[in-house]
Amino acid sequence: RTKIASLYAGKEGFAGKDVTVAGWVRSIRDMKNFGFVVLNDGSCFKDLQVVLNREELANYDEVTSLTVGSALIVEGTLALTPDRPQPFELKAATVVVEGAAEPDYPMQKKRQTREFLRTQQHLRSRTNLFRAVFRVRSVAAFAIHTFFQERGFVYVNTPIITASDAEGAGEMFRVTTLDLNDVPRTEDGKVDWSKDFFGKPCNLTVSGQLQAENFAMSFGDVYTFGPTFRAEDSNTRRHAAEFWMVEPEMAFCDLAQDMDVAEDMLKYVIRYVMDRCPDELDMLNRFVDKGLKERLEHVASSDFARVSYTEAIEVLQAARDAGHEFEYPVEWGVDLQTEHERYLTEHHFGRPTFVTDYPAQIKAFYMRLNDDGRTVAAADCLVPGIGEIIGGSQREERLDVLERRIEELGMDESQYKYYLDLRRYGGCHHAGFGLGFERLVMYLTGIDNIRDVLPHPRTVGNADF
Ligand code: 4AD
Ligand code: MG
Repeated sequence: RTKIASLYAGKEGFAGKDVTVAGWVRSIRDMKNFGFVVLNDGSCFKDLQVVLNREELANYDEVTSLTVGSALIVEGTLALTPDRPQPFELKAATVVVEGAAEPDYPMQKKRQTREFLRTQQHLRSRTNLFRAVFRVRSVAAFAIHTFFQERGFVYVNTPIITASDAEGAGEMFRVTTLDLNDVPRTEDGKVDWSKDFFGKPCNLTVSGQLQAENFAMSFGDVYTFGPTFRAEDSNTRRHAAEFWMVEPEMAFCDLAQDMDVAEDMLKYVIRYVMDRCPDELDMLNRFVDKGLKERLEHVASSDFARVSYTEAIEVLQAARDAGHEFEYPVEWGVDLQTEHERYLTEHHFGRPTFVTDYPAQIKAFYMRLNDDGRTVAAADCLVPGIGEIIGGSQREERLDVLERRIEELGMDESQYKYYLDLRRYGGCHHAGFGLGFERLVMYLTGIDNIRDVLPHPRTVGNADF
């Protein structure tokens, strides 16, 4: 069986030859003595036109009366058609109808809204739009592995189930085998976690960073790429309860070098996808985001802006004083909201922007305290249209400073014993970041809702399938 992608790659070699292709019908036309089936097998974005001849095809009427979506195996001869829009067509000798689609098939050839398609998670990947999005997703994932592997990073799988809260934000999904109708309790009425599967409360991971740091202290440069889970009650276009994160961690690395890696990685992935998904990007550029290709080209070839949080607040305050309306306040010490992030990267800098050195009080416990005693060596990368796509930092490697921070925040130090050990046994300065993979795919495709770049999205109140 030959894939349609192979036909496009080596069309001269197939000309005049017998080939067998298997795929799904995208459209059918019956011209009485001739019929045309447009077939796609998923191997590439392009379709294959199959020509049916009533005189030569025994089941001509059966095939031409099929519904879009039907599964066929076609055997025939490939003919080059240099005078037509498509470079070749397949003249069918036999067509086996492997699975006819029932007439109420929801993915008809008309335009469907993305809201409707979200209710059709099992079928929507058959549309042009979602075939483009999910191939870009696959290629981008491979690009990320290639980027890090080419640079000698070791890929480490960090646990999905964990007892520690890497971000200290408490937005975790509990994992338990306790019977919720009959929870075991201690004498003082508290849940007796010692009776649970792991003997203590456990959760789905919110980030693999803490475990990645373990491996950075042995391999130097490592990265994770895996699912993470957040029980954030935020019903926005850019938050999902289950999403994938890429987390490199580098020993003997400071914040400036950390940002260099992040910027190189994003540019590498953009170039990689532009090289390998031209048909998909053409389609997305036409139907989803008219500025997509131009923007990707621009981003891949220009330097990102870098600005401190303190300077960013000044920029935002100046904008506010000049009449730009923000819903949330802009004062030193507040966390940046999406509207602020987008103002900075879209209006002020007009390109991806790193904001560095945030106030310690709004960032995670593990970030390295700066000499001013009130900011930390953090760097978030903001991009137009989305806002934060990467959150990173240099980590606190000084045992005493880290212990003080954990105590100040009232965190349970016993949970972080292993993490503190890294500072006791050959600790060194190190840094890393987390790239939200779905946000990257949104950026690469111009899709403005995270639900449309996740194959089967899980968001507040939604876990179909
Ligand atoms: O900024 P965050 O919370 O950083 C961390 O988790 C660090 N431990 C990363 C590290 O330094 N190793 O998350 C990192 C990125 C965000 O910038 C965002 O792109 C994405 O993960 N992200 C989400 N994506 C989709 N849905 C959510 N609910 C997300 N929360 C974070
Ligand atoms: Mg963040």
